Amino acid sequence: MNNSNIIITNIKELVGILPKNKLVLGGKEMNELSILKNAFIEVQEDKIQSFGSMKDLKLKDTQNIFDANGGSVLPSWNDSHTHLVFAKSREKEFIDKINGLSYEQIAKKGGGILNSALHLEKISEKTLYENSKQRLKNIINLGTGAIEIKSGYGLSLEGELKILRTIKRLKETFDIEIKSTFLGAHALPTKYKNKREKYLDLIIYEMLPNIHKEGLADYIDVFCETNYFNVDELDRILDAGAKFNLKPKVHVNQFTSIGGIQKAIEHKAISVDHLEIMEENDYDSLRNSSTIATLLPSCSFFIDIAYAPARKLMDKNIPFALASDLNPGSSPNGNMNLVNSLACIKMKILPEAVINASTINGAYAMEISNLTGSITVGKQANLIITKPIESYPYLFYSFGENCIERTMVKGKWNK
Ligand code: NIG
Ligand code: FE
Repeated sequence: MNNSNIIITNIKELVGILPKNKLVLGGKEMNELSILKNAFIEVQEDKIQSFGSMKDLKLKDTQNIFDANGGSVLPSWNDSHTHLVFAKSREKEFIDKINGLSYEQIAKKGGGILNSALHLEKISEKTLYENSKQRLKNIINLGTGAIEIKSGYGLSLEGELKILRTIKRLKETFDIEIKSTFLGAHALPTKYKNKREKYLDLIIYEMLPNIHKEGLADYIDVFCETNYFNVDELDRILDAGAKFNLKPKVHVNQFTSIGGIQKAIEHKAISVDHLEIMEENDYDSLRNSSTIATLLPSCSFFIDIAYAPARKLMDKNIPFALASDLNPGSSPNGNMNLVNSLACIKMKILPEAVINASTINGAYAMEISNLTGSITVGKQANLIITKPIESYPYLFYSFGENCIERTMVKGKWNK
């Protein structure tokens, strides 16, 4: 089928229509979702050309028709927080967890991020790329239409470059928007155990300049957490990143609230991610900033910790995005449909807000909500076509069921 012009007809519900100037939604707005029933949408090249009611559709001979046949159409999911490039799964730790060990206890006995770094050191860049490519293909077929990917399992100059070069190759291979984030400060490598300062120097004076030279990162991240990196270290690393024009997207408040949110906001972070543990002053800081919160319910599910207080964020008018956190330790699943179900079930967020959080707000958390994240004329044709379903909440209600018929990125069908 020639993809340059496609018209999708007989859409039961065309979901997530937004005006061009709506780039992020917060508070009550998150519960509003604009829908057109019995609709069509027209795609020209890589963009949304028009949409409307089936009764107003006038077909031209040149148009390729795809009959949605009672399926619904939504904007693709925008997954703004992943660690998709990793060497190996960690199911041994899964067994440890079943046997009662916590995420922190597993990390202390040599599991966790350091375990992933050992595997990363051994894998060739070629195999790392092939594995990551397959992983990305799978999640694109599950409806993801833009993604952020972090480094952070290298923890050495060569290792971090290996991951970031792999992300660069993925950017070159795939049509979907990919944002790349440097997370050198993910954990302190074993050989720096008593030389913390030396590792910070390595990040600041070796990794960052080399990453910059090859143009490998869009953002900078730090795992700011008790037993990982403290607020002063966050400050120094974000300062160093700023010298290379890297804006922050940071891990904060996963286990403890230690001031990471405030420091990230001071550095004009694009997003603060996790937020399972929040103090009152954390909400105040966020409410007065343009930094978006990013919540990761599948991480809470998998390592069995608290869920971020999504409803409270909504009540306080603080916008948030939902993301998968795909990684081998705390969320070995990049399926945004499951993330969305968990947000409904465990965070008590209505399907309307969940869709907004995973589409337009996810795009905002990657600074691409002017390009994608809604059904808007002129935006990228990044679409999910569902199987025939009764109504869109069914997508999350039927958790674990794959309701997706087809997905499209920039006007091209995915296989
Ligand atoms: O976002 N919290 C820090 N980093 C990852 C987990 C990394 C791992 O366990 O491999 C996260 O949950
Ligand atoms: Fe993460």
